[in-house]
Amino acid sequence: MRGREGAVHHSSPQLTIANLGELMILITGATGNVGRVVVERLADEGQPVRALSRRPEQAQWPAGVEAVAGDLGDVASVRPALDGVESVFLFPAPEVGAELVAAFEAAGVRHVVLLSSGAVEDGAEAQDGPIATRHHELEQLLRASGMSWTFLRPDTFAVNILPWSYQTKHGDEVRGAYAEAAAPVIHEADIADAVVAALTSEGHAGKAYHLTGPELLTHADQARVIGEVLGRPIRYVEIDVEQVRQQMGAYVPAPILADILKFWARSLEQPHAVSGDVETLTGHKARDFRSWVEAHAEAF
Ligand SMILES: NC(=O)c1ccc[n+]([C@@H]2O[C@H](COP(=O)([O-])OP(=O)(O)OC[C@H]3O[C@@H](n4cnc5c(N)ncnc54)[C@H](OP(=O)(O)O)[C@@H]3O)[C@@H](O)[C@H]2O)c1
Repeated sequence: MRGREGAVHHSSPQLTIANLGELMILITGATGNVGRVVVERLADEGQPVRALSRRPEQAQWPAGVEAVAGDLGDVASVRPALDGVESVFLFPAPEVGAELVAAFEAAGVRHVVLLSSGAVEDGAEAQDGPIATRHHELEQLLRASGMSWTFLRPDTFAVNILPWSYQTKHGDEVRGAYAEAAAPVIHEADIADAVVAALTSEGHAGKAYHLTGPELLTHADQARVIGEVLGRPIRYVEIDVEQVRQQMGAYVPAPILADILKFWARSLEQPHAVSGDVETLTGHKARDFRSWVEAHAEAF
């Protein structure tokens, strides 16, 4: 066993950190914002890494990465990818359920790092809204499994605001709901670094980490920082929530959109906490929002 706290079984005395390098790590959601950075980091470190995608032929992986096809909603398609796998980074695709978790366990997977959500509340009688409920369900499935687990619960991804680029490319305003809604937005590279730490270092089993950026920023602050990086003022213009509901409703399912709007409204009354868990896991401070904008400036 790897000495992870909370590891429940699969004791194997010959398995130590010294031979971890020979054990395969499966990354699901490997073409996603987080997953693709995780794959790159692990490949850079020389870890054996297998990247799962529904369309691996369309993905570009660094040398040494094993690309495999699989759909998380079709457990039979994932089974071949589990051969020799010791740890999995689990992307919480809507189709993921008990059958997949059982297949991991049957294949001998020992540790699962779940991309969960900062919306999950420990100890709540009921989770608030579909986003928290869905991630909590997956957490419960893993808690009930015989595998060890680490839950990474990020707050709002900075990358969520990439759609603002349609507005910044055509003007100096970003129009949206709740100018003063605030979150400690997080750089996807910090989430990926946390995933790598939870997959490859000891001491993270049975733990949940709340991952945030280093500072609370309102929508208005975020627009201002984009402007500072671009070298021209960008202003956030608050518009009516119902108008936003109609506009975003074209591409976000109604229950999820209602959850997001409620999440923003609630942040006006109950500011989100800034956590030090990125540093705890990775040994470095969380990247600030400015550095995220600089890394994505071309998009804006
Ligand atoms: N956005 C936020 O603020 C926020 C906050 C907290 C938590 N989260 C969590 O983070 C997730 C987003 O992570 P992300 O941005 O890295 O994801 P992403 O960029 O949306 O990528 C997800 C990847 O998962 C793969 N995928 C989707 N369904 C699949 C399936 N059925 N089988 C196999 N692969 C599948 C897709 O790859 P292929 O097409 O190549 O198969 C896709 O590239 C959210 O869904 C949520 O659970 C988000």
